[in-house]
Amino acid sequence: MSAPAPHDNFTLKEEIRAYWSARAESFDLSFGHAIKSDRELKAFQRLIGDSFGLEPLDVLDLACGTGEITRALLSLKHRVTALDFSEAMLERARAKHGKAARFRLGDAEHLLDEDASYDAAITRHLVWTLTDPEAALGEWFRVLRPGGRLLVIDGDWVNRTRWQALVNRFGTWLREKRGAAVHQIDADTHASITKRFYFKDGLSRRQLETMLTAAGFTDIVPADYIQVVREQQRAAPLHDAIRLASSTRFALLARKPADAAVSR
Ligand SMILES: C[S@@+](CC[C@H](N)C(=O)[O-])C[C@H]1O[C@@H](n2cnc3c(N)ncnc32)[C@H](O)[C@@H]1O
Repeated sequence: MSAPAPHDNFTLKEEIRAYWSARAESFDLSFGHAIKSDRELKAFQRLIGDSFGLEPLDVLDLACGTGEITRALLSLKHRVTALDFSEAMLERARAKHGKAARFRLGDAEHLLDEDASYDAAITRHLVWTLTDPEAALGEWFRVLRPGGRLLVIDGDWVNRTRWQALVNRFGTWLREKRGAAVHQIDADTHASITKRFYFKDGLSRRQLETMLTAAGFTDIVPADYIQVVREQQRAAPLHDAIRLASSTRFALLARKPADAAVSR
C-alpha cells in the first residue's frame, strides 16, 4: 500500500498529535498555559461560573492537554470528563488530578460518548488546530443534553494587526535581550502543520459563530476570557506579559436548544 499523501487529513492529524505530544513536557512552562496564580484561577472560576452557573454539572473538557482547564472545573466541583488524543498530555493531566476526573484518550472530532451525555462542554485552544471543525462541532452538539452549553476559548494565532505585530516584535526582542527561555519547540514542524490546518488563514470570532450556528447552536454570546488573560499578564515576566497582548483572543458561549431532539 502506498503511503498517504501529505495533505491527507489522517496523516495531518497524526502529525498534529505527535507535535502536541512532543510539547507536553514543557507545555506548562509557557505563560498562558498553566494557571500561575490564585487570581488567574479565580478569573477562570468567574468565567466558568458566568457561563455554566454555579451548580455542579457533568462537564466535558475537550482537548484537556495537561489538565489546567480541568483544574478550574474541579475547583468548582464539576464532574469532569477530560479528553485528549495525546497520551503524553493526558499523562500530565492524570498526574495532577488522579481520580478526581475521568480521563479519556480520544479524538474530539469523533466522540465515543452517547448522545446527550453532558450538561456542558468547554474547550480552550483546540478549534484552531482541528482538521474537521464541522464534524467536531456536530459531535459536541450531539453529546450535549438539550439546553446544554458549550464554551469555546480560542484565538487567531495567524493574523496580527499592525499594532499586535509591533507588540509581538518588542516582546520577542525583550525576551531575547533578557536571555529568557523559549518553550515553543520545533518551529519547523509547527510551521509545516499550521500551513495545512483547516484554519491556516486564522480563526476569527465571526467564523466560529457562523460554524456554531450551522451546527445547531443558539444564544451565541461572547464570554469574558480577557479577565483571565489580564491575570496571566499580571503574573508573567514583562516580555511574556507583552507577548500575551500580541494576539486576538476570544471566547464564545453557545447553547444547544432546550427542545433539540435526542436520538438514542
Ligand atoms: C494548545 S493545547 C491546549 C490544551 C488545553 N486545552 C489548554 O488550554 O491548556 C491543544 C491540545 O489539543 C489536543 N488536540 C488537538 N487535536 C485534538 C483532537 N482532534 N482530539 C483530541 N485532542 C486534540 C492536543 O493534544 C493538545 O493537548
